[in-house]
Amino acid sequence: MILEAQQVHYTYHDGTNALQGTDIAIPKGQFVILLGSNGSGKTTLFKVITGLLKPGRGEIRVDGRPIKEYSKEELYRKIGFVFQDPNDQLFAPTVGEDVAFGPVNLKLDSAEVARRVKAALEMVGIPHLLNKPIHYLSYGQKKRASIAGVLAMKPEVIILDEPTAGLDPAGAREIMRLLVKLNKEERITIFMATHDVDLVPLYADRVFVLFKGGILLAGTPQEVFNQKERLRNAQLRLPRVAHLGEILFKKDNLLIDKLPLTIGEARRMVISAVKREGERHAR
Ligand SMILES: Nc1ncnc2c1ncn2[C@@H]1O[C@H](COP(=O)(O)OP(=O)(O)O)[C@@H](O)[C@H]1O
Ligand SMILES: [Mg+2]
Repeated sequence: MILEAQQVHYTYHDGTNALQGTDIAIPKGQFVILLGSNGSGKTTLFKVITGLLKPGRGEIRVDGRPIKEYSKEELYRKIGFVFQDPNDQLFAPTVGEDVAFGPVNLKLDSAEVARRVKAALEMVGIPHLLNKPIHYLSYGQKKRASIAGVLAMKPEVIILDEPTAGLDPAGAREIMRLLVKLNKEERITIFMATHDVDLVPLYADRVFVLFKGGILLAGTPQEVFNQKERLRNAQLRLPRVAHLGEILFKKDNLLIDKLPLTIGEARRMVISAVKREGERHAR
């Protein structure tokens, strides 16, 4: 496991119990989604597992070792954290200077820093913005720049807090494609938070459902979406296409053996059910 949280508790100064015995385990190399409604504790959990907040109780392990044993530099080489709002993350005058900040702090020589900045900007698709002032960037470009800043540290895991929030559908799809590329080609473990249930079956190997600071459900998307009532109790819902599958099954007697979670799955199920129906009539 590259990341583990065991029975983690966190209480804010005003007494809000944001995490109440949260357990997660993230296997190396997977694409993992933390699914939870607003206020369920996603951001707090990310801050605790990246060392920004100290848990009141419980333990965090990174690559099998307690997080306390890591120096800041070691931790930044292991885990990159991309904030929800890139305006909270970016602070240097230009894109290039911002992406260079981490590698410079690792005391890498200037040739290596330049190489990493170039490679990171190429990976996120904005090499042409190297000298662009941050405040001229679009929101989507800022998101990419903040991901580049984390990539320049060459982390093993990237944690992203609601990476598609505030983006239009095309922008959201591009960011998700980028994350898939980092996961599949660069072998970076991805752990991202969202409340968008429709993203889960398309991208996640594993999903953790967070509710009131505790893990309510965990497993593959299929396992988690089979627990429809528990999801509804957590202020979530089924993916739209699964809901359609459920209606076709219940109201239109369409025979399906499991809930479709993606448009591709739904299409195959509908076509084969229609074929069976056609064969039945022909007999
Ligand atoms: N700085 C803070 N002080 C007090 N309460 C907070 C603070 N930040 C978040 N909370 C509370 O902690 C709970 C979890 O919040 P958060 O982790 O931001 O959830 P999410 O990211 O899932 O929306 C919420 O009830 C929220 O109001
Ligand atoms: Mg949040």
